[in-house]
Amino acid sequence: MIPVSEPVLGELEYEYVKECLETGWISSSGRFIHDFESGWAEYCRMKYGVAVSNGTVALQLALRAIELDPGDEVIIPSLTIISCALACIYNGAVPVLVDCDPQTWCMDVEQLRAKITPRTRAVMPVHMYGHPVDMDPLMQLAEEHGLKVIEDAAEAHGARVLDRSRPGDWRPCGGLGHLSAFSFYANKPITTGEGGMVLTNDPELADRLRSLRNLSHRSERRFYHTELGFNFRMTNLQAALGLAQLARVEQIIERKRWIGKRYTEALRPVEGLQLPVEREWAKQNYWMYGIVLDEATGQNAEWLANRLAAQGIDTRPFFLGMHEQPALIELGLFSGEHYPVTERLSRQGLYLPSGLSLTENQIDYVCRSVTEALR
Ligand SMILES: Cc1ncc(COP(=O)(O)O)c(C=O)c1O
Repeated sequence: MIPVSEPVLGELEYEYVKECLETGWISSSGRFIHDFESGWAEYCRMKYGVAVSNGTVALQLALRAIELDPGDEVIIPSLTIISCALACIYNGAVPVLVDCDPQTWCMDVEQLRAKITPRTRAVMPVHMYGHPVDMDPLMQLAEEHGLKVIEDAAEAHGARVLDRSRPGDWRPCGGLGHLSAFSFYANKPITTGEGGMVLTNDPELADRLRSLRNLSHRSERRFYHTELGFNFRMTNLQAALGLAQLARVEQIIERKRWIGKRYTEALRPVEGLQLPVEREWAKQNYWMYGIVLDEATGQNAEWLANRLAAQGIDTRPFFLGMHEQPALIELGLFSGEHYPVTERLSRQGLYLPSGLSLTENQIDYVCRSVTEALR
């Protein structure tokens, strides 16, 4: 089976992990944590990085740091992973949904304004499958309404947005909002196995994030607590993997972009298929190469996934809308709501093998198989 993704680990990863084993720094203190936090923050042009155990808790912690009151609203896209909704719910907030742009598959910023109420406190744009959200108008709107912006850049390592006020300046995703959250799960361009990070430029928020991550110990007295914290720490072993990959991040992102472009070239002539776009203000990382079947083909993503699986090609379906999740509906959320773009994409979209180990021959084979299936 050609896998959807697999991690590619090099010599430096072995060397750094060996150093952890040899020195005994295997838990959540050690030089790799510090260097990975500051290195990743710098790569994303943020001042502070707080490494955590995964991307889901990175979102949860980011929302916790901005101190929401019960019933406060956070706007998230309807097409996303459930982690975004969980981060709201575990903070006593109410997730409010916005449908996505049919081309970029990201939160439709045009529809955002209509969802803002006096209870809205934050917006969580998700850079979907590696394409950035249109952050310029989103940040403007957030500023007008005094909202905090928490970027979910879990999938968007190395993706960039053109700063329209400074021509030629491409700003990294995860460095555009007030806070950002990353995942370093094994299918991400940079991986620590499991892992995540929250970034911010605000020193007070960074302090709060560090404290909350580590059981909210008070600095004046260890084992003394004035608020409820979490153990969301990352280990030095994980950070060792991350730091080793950070040394070749540009090469990794370049390879991802090369894979994406090769797919697009080969699949462009296929009728009945929508391919990923790259807006003129965006450089996407093609984290996962998504395709969407036209409904006019009479087929859906599940049908194509089965056809490809029979040929030894692994795929994954697109996310299912938050308003169609029984666990959330049971909480009384999203009653009677519909998001037509999300609903179509979640039924018609899937992503193809996109890992760093993918060969040219494998890409060509996948493209031939997709072409034949739709002939
Ligand atoms: C957009 C998005 N946000 C958050 C997460 C959660 O990250 P993790 O799996 O590290 O908890 C993911 C995971 O893939 C994701 O795709």
